[in-house]
Amino acid sequence: SRKVTVAVIPGDGIGTEVMDPTLRILEEVGSRHGLQFAWQHHDWSCEHYTRTGRMMPEDGLDQLAQADQILLGAVGYPGVPDHVSLWGLLIPIRRTFRQYINLRPVKLMPGIESPLRLRDGQDIDFVVVRENNEGEYSEVGGRMYRGTPEEFAVQESVFTRRGVERAARYALELADSRGGGLASATKSNGIVHTMPFWDQVVHETAKDFPGVHVRDYHIDALSALFVLDPGRFDVVVASNLFGDILTDLGAAIIGSIGIAPSGNLNPEGEFPSMFEPVHGSAPDIAGQGIANPLGQIWAASMMLDHLGHERAGAEVLAAVEATLVAGVKTPDLGGTATTTEVADAVLAHLTTGRVDPGAAAT
Ligand code: NAD
Ligand code: IPM
Ligand code: MN
Repeated sequence: SRKVTVAVIPGDGIGTEVMDPTLRILEEVGSRHGLQFAWQHHDWSCEHYTRTGRMMPEDGLDQLAQADQILLGAVGYPGVPDHVSLWGLLIPIRRTFRQYINLRPVKLMPGIESPLRLRDGQDIDFVVVRENNEGEYSEVGGRMYRGTPEEFAVQESVFTRRGVERAARYALELADSRGGGLASATKSNGIVHTMPFWDQVVHETAKDFPGVHVRDYHIDALSALFVLDPGRFDVVVASNLFGDILTDLGAAIIGSIGIAPSGNLNPEGEFPSMFEPVHGSAPDIAGQGIANPLGQIWAASMMLDHLGHERAGAEVLAAVEATLVAGVKTPDLGGTATTTEVADAVLAHLTTGRVDPGAAAT
């Protein structure tokens, strides 16, 4: 059997609650598919910061580089400023390991009713390809002159041809393989100076994909269409910040931010990729045992796909679907189940092929 080393960073808040059940599910599905996981547990978090002054040890990135893949819960907790937790862990991982694609499926699962009123025959099933290494999340010119009467803040957006092109190419290849079109999120009406450049590189790259229809959408109008006509989308490519906002909206239209997954991909495989839910550490519900674990579990299924074990990934997703169809849902999806009950139902489906109806007490 194949051995895969996975660095596990539960992080803060509900990150720590959704991770353990996900590892149990991975172990179960792995044992059926000749996959043996070696977990490298890391307690890197805001709590770690409070204790040591660092989100992760000085050689943290070197340790992660030894792993095949990374599973992350979420980081960030009241008491530690977000810029500390994010620049101290999440962003360095995404950048050091050239995880320049953030792949975020937006797919309405059977068993969930979208908060949108979908027209007959309309489905929500598309993928957002978010540029994950540059753009608005830039370290260049980051300055805040605070606390004086003239205080101000500036930050430069940095879009490189190489960075935009590789995101566009990935999205175009995906659109090509899905036989669909590509929607490019932009703001090219001359106000945001970087966006005409984004458009130019996207369309130049698209010349290599004559079969893919590319259409630009202004980000404001695109957001409205996510709500009014989500069925029209197949693949959406977006800059770092636009993609961030669009994917919480995407999570909302598939029923809950607690279910949406995310893969921070290094497509070349020269470095580990990182799989995490779209949501954060949710301090408002942390410690209550009611966090939806499905975002983390779905992210684990994406990791299996990335490892080339698509059948194992599909089994996990089928178990998630069966759990939802059986009505075993946490409160964010309108149910009364706990984190553990949902994860147990997924596990039961993997081992017995069904979800215990007794667990479907909603
Ligand atoms: P959040 O995603 O943590 O929470 C937003 C809302 O969604 C909250 O009401 C929360 O209860 C709910 N929610 C989120 N996940 C849920 C789940 N699995 N089940 C049920 N409900 C869920 O976003 P926020 O409040 O903006 O951020 C909280 C902290 O998380 C901040 O410190 C932020 O920086 C951090 N954060 C980290 C990551 C990451 O590590 N990748 C991502 C996003 C936010
Ligand atoms: C996400 C998060 C992060 C992002 C934050 C916490 C920096 O919102 O993964 O979507 O904006 O990338
Ligand atoms: Mn986000």
